[in-house]
Amino acid sequence: IIQNGDLGYASAPSNIALLKYWGKTLGREQIPINSSISYTLGGFRSFTKVTALGRFFPDEIKSDALFSNQLILKNKNNEIIQIPHKMDRLIKSILFPFGKEIYLKIDSYNNFPTACGIASSASGYAALVAAIADLLQLQIHFTEQELKIWLTEWSRLGSGSATRSALTGDDKFFVKWETPSDHKIDFSETQNLKYHPKWRTLQHVVFILDSNEKSTSSSEGHKFAETSPFHKIRVAGIPSRMKLMEKGLQEFDFDFIQYLSEEDAYSMHAVMQTGEPKACYLNNETAEIISIFVKLRNKYEAKAFWTLDAGPNLHVLFMPDSLSFVQEFHQIAQKFLNRKINNIVNNFNESLIIG
Ligand code: PMV
Repeated sequence: IIQNGDLGYASAPSNIALLKYWGKTLGREQIPINSSISYTLGGFRSFTKVTALGRFFPDEIKSDALFSNQLILKNKNNEIIQIPHKMDRLIKSILFPFGKEIYLKIDSYNNFPTACGIASSASGYAALVAAIADLLQLQIHFTEQELKIWLTEWSRLGSGSATRSALTGDDKFFVKWETPSDHKIDFSETQNLKYHPKWRTLQHVVFILDSNEKSTSSSEGHKFAETSPFHKIRVAGIPSRMKLMEKGLQEFDFDFIQYLSEEDAYSMHAVMQTGEPKACYLNNETAEIISIFVKLRNKYEAKAFWTLDAGPNLHVLFMPDSLSFVQEFHQIAQKFLNRKINNIVNNFNESLIIG
């Protein structure tokens, strides 16, 4: 039973997909049209506290009672912002079995800037759902497997990619999210992937070319994926690529992971750019600095690769012995563009933490 003033806490990492999902079969249930694999960005996190405030019983109307869910974003000067409709609906669905008039005050903080090329919806929704799990004390009432399903399913309904941020455990670096073989099923499983221990030293940095909000949100973009003539071809190739990527991760085949990730980033953006309406998330600078990156990598024989999300900012993943390559790339790219390129480094690796 939830009481007025009860609290729940959680923090969740963001993630970047190496094999990306683009398009959904069941829009509302957020069933992805294709399976995906992501790398957990443990250093880029959302920290969320939920407080239950509401009219629990008719005679228990307290002055601090809330009669709607409220979102306070700490990194936006503690502003109470309009709770997104999707988030409000999600909270109501989760709490419905526990009582009709329970409302949440959500205090949330991201330790990374918004719109910097790191998905705040993934970490944000995973942290929110996990904080609600803490409020409901599900860690005590559920088995590990039940809790995993609860967290990944509800997070997915918030934002597809959030399901890959909603796993706990030590094998947290690479996560697979599978689309069901029968597309009518509204369940799609997420699991930690086995990987070679050498991947544990993988480094990650984002080079920010543009920090403005994207003009087409990914939820909008997914709807048009199927209008691209390349969509079917991309989706048909995903099952074999998933297997190849899993093998490459298990065997530490760096070059192959590099090849698959870079190719998939191009292929997702090709689908985005050829749908109707067209969504072009990249800019000229992205193409220019990718070309600098690849030329320099060949010279250095560096163990490094790039990938992209739904935006122009370049994510770079590299082994520690290729740090000087990444630094030189940064210098050369800045010289070429004749301006400063900010970068944010992910230097911590932890999966979902409840409580
Ligand atoms: O999490 P969503 O449903 O907003 O979609 C995001 C999709 C991409 O980030 C572009 C790709 C991915 O697999 O994360």
